[in-house]
Formats: sequence, structure tokens, C-alpha cells
Amino acid sequence: MDKILVANWKMNPGTLTEAIELARGSDHEGVILCPPFIYLHTLKDEIMNAALGAQDLFWEGETGPFTGEVSARMLKNLGVSHVVIGHSERRKRFHETTEILNHKLKVALAAGLTPIVCIGEELEEKMSGQSEAVWQKQCAEIFKDIQTNSLIYIAYEPVWAISTNKNALPDTPENATHAINFICSIISSHSTTSVIPAEAGIFGVSPSSIKFLYGGSVNSSNAASFLDIPNVTGLLVGGASLKIPEWQKMMALI
Ligand code: PGA
Repeated sequence: MDKILVANWKMNPGTLTEAIELARGSDHEGVILCPPFIYLHTLKDEIMNAALGAQDLFWEGETGPFTGEVSARMLKNLGVSHVVIGHSERRKRFHETTEILNHKLKVALAAGLTPIVCIGEELEEKMSGQSEAVWQKQCAEIFKDIQTNSLIYIAYEPVWAISTNKNALPDTPENATHAINFICSIISSHSTTSVIPAEAGIFGVSPSSIKFLYGGSVNSSNAASFLDIPNVTGLLVGGASLKIPEWQKMMALI
């Protein structure tokens, strides 16, 4: 089917032994495993078909006095190919701004990592009819002055549909289709087909280099309906990626 599945393990599992078992059970072409940093080094030798992604990176420098942080270069040198940028849990809990995400995107691209940029609205924003304005603002600020033809994944993740949120609401393929088409049109209307110096607010991103993922309470029962959305290249999955039987049913779809 030529689609991808990104497994965002978040702060799971609790031991390296469990991480190895999970990685072995998830090792499939088209899968990108994003374990906690601490497991990356071991897991790269445990997988043969899947790719390795990080859940975050620092936005400045290759090495330096940044306690607790990990640079793009460190990830690249370790054999990591992808990096999640701007997950809503980091935006909320760690106060990551769109300006920070813009820096993270730049360093990821400069290091040759494939970014997976998360875009999505909060429930209050949806309920007050601001979703489109939120997507527009997030894209404009996160992609500001980015000039590239490199592959970038944009993951549309409505924050209200993420399973770890209290009272998560199920999303529908109709809503996801609308959101992804809208975000796609934002990128296309502001992009150039070749890389030119971007003026303020104008993206220098080739639309053909952007691919879309969907994420938010995706599991083996609803995965096919989201994978079937025409512009969707794959899924960003949290909870269901931690359950091997569930994940294996999803891997059978790609
Ligand atoms: P979920 O998480 O699949 O558990 O909803 C998705 C995510 O947070 O990326």
C-alpha cells in the first residue's frame, strides 16, 4: 500500500527489555519507531526493516552547554532518520512556541533528518470555530523562512482526539480530510515549486516535498478509514503502537 506508520511511544515502555521486545514486534518496512532517547542506541541494532525516529531535538548547536538536551547531529550520527517536532504534549507541558518549532525544523533539515511536524487545534479552538485560523497561524509561524525541497511530514493531530487527553473525542475521516486539505492548500498557496529565498511569511517549501499524516486515537479498528484519505501518506500513533497485537494488525494495512 506504500503508506507509513509512525509509532510515538512517548515515555514508554518502562524497561529496555520491554523496548527491545516491542521493537522486534514492530519491525516492518514503512514503520518509523520513535522510542524515548535512551533506547535509540540499542534499538538501532534490533531492527532491520523499520526506521528510527526521535520524539524531539534541541533547536540550537551541535554540542554545547545545554543540560539535558540532544542535538540534531547527535541523532543523525546515531542512525536516526526522523524526528517529531511540536507534538502537542510538548507544546502544552513544555511551553514550546511556534518560534521554537521553527528553529527545531531548521536544525532538523540542516542535519538531514526528516521532520514530522505536528499541527492541530485544541478543543476550545475547534468549538469556537477557529480551527482554520489556528492551522494557518501554526503553518505560517512554524514554516517561516524555511527553504527546502527535502521531505517533510506534516502530522495533523487534533489535540482533542489524542487518546491520552481526558475526555478525548473520536475524530472522523471527514474532519481529518477537511483539515488536511485545508493545510495542504495553505502550503501550496504559499509555496514555490523550486527553492527560492523565502520572503517574510512566504514558504520556500516545495508542495511536492510535503506529505501528510493523521494522528489521534488511531487503532486497528479505525486505521484503514484514515489511511484511505487521499492526501494521507500514513499515521502517527501513540497508544496503539505499544500493543504488539494491535500494532501488527495496523502493520498489515501498509
Ligand atoms: P494516540 O496518540 O494515538 O494515543 O492518540 C497520538 C499522538 O499523541 O501522537
